[in-house]
Amino acid sequence: MSSLRHVAIIMDGNGRWAEAHGVPRAEGHRQGSLQVETVLDAAGKLGIKYVTLYAFSTENWKRSPAEVLALMKLLEQFSTERLPRMMEKNIRLRVIGRITDIPLFARQKLLEAVEKTSKNDGNVLTLALSYGGRAEIVDAVNRILAEKNDGKITEESFRNYLYAPDIPDPDLLIRTSGELRLSNFLLWELAYSEIYVTDVLWPDFGEEELKKAVEAFNRRDRRFGGRTK
Ligand code: FPP
Repeated sequence: MSSLRHVAIIMDGNGRWAEAHGVPRAEGHRQGSLQVETVLDAAGKLGIKYVTLYAFSTENWKRSPAEVLALMKLLEQFSTERLPRMMEKNIRLRVIGRITDIPLFARQKLLEAVEKTSKNDGNVLTLALSYGGRAEIVDAVNRILAEKNDGKITEESFRNYLYAPDIPDPDLLIRTSGELRLSNFLLWELAYSEIYVTDVLWPDFGEEELKKAVEAFNRRDRRFGGRTK
């Protein structure tokens, strides 16, 4: 039995996929967004309860206005079109990040889907949006300061100020498209996660690819800094 409860994914390579297929970047992102459901279904079959996807970083705002808009439209579409399936499959949608940065037309639909799925107790899909690992830590510190907390902060109490303290840390981080970077993703939460990088581009990453990642994870010997034998 795998001890894999939570997989976090840096979905990279939509642009390269588009280039390789001679289509606009936005089409690469569209294919990428279609892949989300495939991977979510596959994760469900493999008994993985939590899937967290890096859908838009704090740095992604620097992309061209047209590309940002295309991504926001995909988010709106995803939130409305996938909602019935999420309800049917008892999936809960959550979001982490500076959500108020998201334009209202997309944010409304997103938060509606979050609210409507909030009582679902099956698998949990968390979208990281306008998300940065440093921003998350800074936001946590500011909340602590605002509370004028006189007591000492511990690692355990600090966690309560993160965006989703109740979600267990990822066991496995997957990055598609070959880059060997964390790119400011879940800096606190990934402290002990196993890392799996594949050259496969995100729009080509499906059930078989996820299985390969899980098999690689199952061969690892996780020690969390200590020794188990
Ligand atoms: C990286 O590809 C991917 C992103 C910046 C965004 C990820 C977004 C999606 C998969 C679609 C939207 C998702 C949802 C849930 C609506 P890149 O453009 O950096 O690729 P490149 O490095 O090859 O150029």
